[in-house]
Amino acid sequence: MLDTPLARHAGIEVPLICGAMYPCSNAELVAAVSEAGGIGIVQPISLTYVHGYEFREGLRRIRSLTAKPIGMNALIERSSKTYAERMERWIEVAIEEGIRFFVTSLGNPRWVVDRVHSVGGVVYHDTTEAKWGAKGRDAGVDGLIAVNRCAGGHAGAKGEEELLAELAPLGLPVVCAGGIATGEDFARALGLGYAGVQMGTRFIATPECRASDAYKQAIVEAGEGDVVLSERITGVPVSVIRTPYIERMGTEAGPVARFLLRGRRTKHWMRAFYALKAIRQLKHASLDETGERDYWQAGKSVAGVHAVEPAGEIVRRLAAAAER
Ligand SMILES: Cc1cc2nc3c(=O)[nH]c(=O)nc-3n(C[C@H](O)[C@H](O)[C@H](O)COP(=O)(O)O)c2cc1C
Repeated sequence: MLDTPLARHAGIEVPLICGAMYPCSNAELVAAVSEAGGIGIVQPISLTYVHGYEFREGLRRIRSLTAKPIGMNALIERSSKTYAERMERWIEVAIEEGIRFFVTSLGNPRWVVDRVHSVGGVVYHDTTEAKWGAKGRDAGVDGLIAVNRCAGGHAGAKGEEELLAELAPLGLPVVCAGGIATGEDFARALGLGYAGVQMGTRFIATPECRASDAYKQAIVEAGEGDVVLSERITGVPVSVIRTPYIERMGTEAGPVARFLLRGRRTKHWMRAFYALKAIRQLKHASLDETGERDYWQAGKSVAGVHAVEPAGEIVRRLAAAAER
């Protein structure tokens, strides 16, 4: 079951992606998942702004821990010119450093596809519905990552079976993102016809992840019902653990923010504002050991997380379950 189009495209043994996570993707976590046979994805803002590396130096730190394939996430929304130019530079550096697997999110991935294909690499595109999947396919991506309603980060609206049924006709390998924590979850997704899985939440509760112990413990203790969607972080719904802080803050964007997010001219400005604010807040909350800033992103897969465990053990356990 493990020999799937994703495994072949990425050159890995276990078709399992540790998805990009702002602010939780750090060098050691990315390396640990790749070393165990899956593939860790670098989140450039997390690597540089949260974990303090100059980008190339961060990639080399990961390389010093594993020689196996790693990937990079390119958030390609072009509402900020400065950010778009920085992303182009990051992609060039990643290619120079030997990265050949890219995951694009938001926006039109064509320019990434053209560049990455020119060096023999592959691009998988995050999508929450057929409309965006078709855009990705038309732009030439090699696979789709189906982000379902259980996912951590920006969740989709659909369930894993419904989304696969919608995306499969596009004729590309489809990866399941959201709700996967255990061996049974992994085997079920492959059994449904997914080419692999992308997991986030499960890998936060690992010793390799640099998030605070309070954050990891909250994931271990939370059940599915403790995960709620909040618009207050980035202006679009993000999955978070319902903590006293989230309850105090509320989960809906205020009326002015909503109005500005809808406006044709103001929406880009508003998104950029939210992004900058969220980038700062999430960085501090994830590293704060006191647990007072309990502003923690996680998906419904918290239900299958019962202990902090090494990332490599998780990969091996899931692989064994799928091979049975
Ligand atoms: C804390 C956190 C941060 C995330 N940040 C990003 C991100 O920066 N870019 C991205 O494309 N996906 C991001 N995601 C989504 C993950 O890459 C992955 O698709 C998702 O976590 C899968 O769902 P799961 O958490 O149930 O495993 C994030 C997820 C989490 C939990």
